[in-house]
Amino acid sequence: MKNAVYPGSFDPMTLGHLDVIERAAKMFDTLTVSVLNNKAKSPLFSVEERVNILQEATAHLDNVKVDSFSGLLIDYCKKLGVHVVIRGLRAITDFEYELQVAQTNRKLSNGDVDTLFLTTSLEYAYLSSSSVKEIACFGGDIRQCVPAFLVQKVYDKFGITAFKQEQQNT
Ligand code: PNS
Repeated sequence: MKNAVYPGSFDPMTLGHLDVIERAAKMFDTLTVSVLNNKAKSPLFSVEERVNILQEATAHLDNVKVDSFSGLLIDYCKKLGVHVVIRGLRAITDFEYELQVAQTNRKLSNGDVDTLFLTTSLEYAYLSSSSVKEIACFGGDIRQCVPAFLVQKVYDKFGITAFKQEQQNT
């Protein structure tokens, strides 16, 4: 069995994340998408909410499981018996950080955990969870950024109901 883990904050997940999940799911027998439970950060969505959102977004993918983890990624990989970590790369700015983390994980795991990078599809290259939050907090249009079922959930976090009502009226 070829298994992989796709870890991240997913706060919130974007269509760019979903694109990586769909492509990685074709390459492996199982793909575990796992939300980092990072107590140092104050996220927009709780870990439980993010897990539920990812489950809904990946319901059409039979070999994708959604989970959460805390602590070191390599320890989580060991627990699952997984040797491959998936990460998406949008631009050269991602590369420097991702390379360092991938090499650290390889070193810490004594070569047991490798990272496989998928380049983001061009249509999502500009997308990030941070920009989704910034656009949404000012009531901007995030319909090209996140799955349709998630759009209003993000606005709700900022107390914005007007966008939905305007859309319904047009
Ligand atoms: O979506 P993100 O925030 O870019 O995801 C980052 C993530 C969760 C992959 C990374 O922060 C992580 O694996 N954190 C767990 C702690 C760890 O193992 N760090 C690697 C050693 S530097």
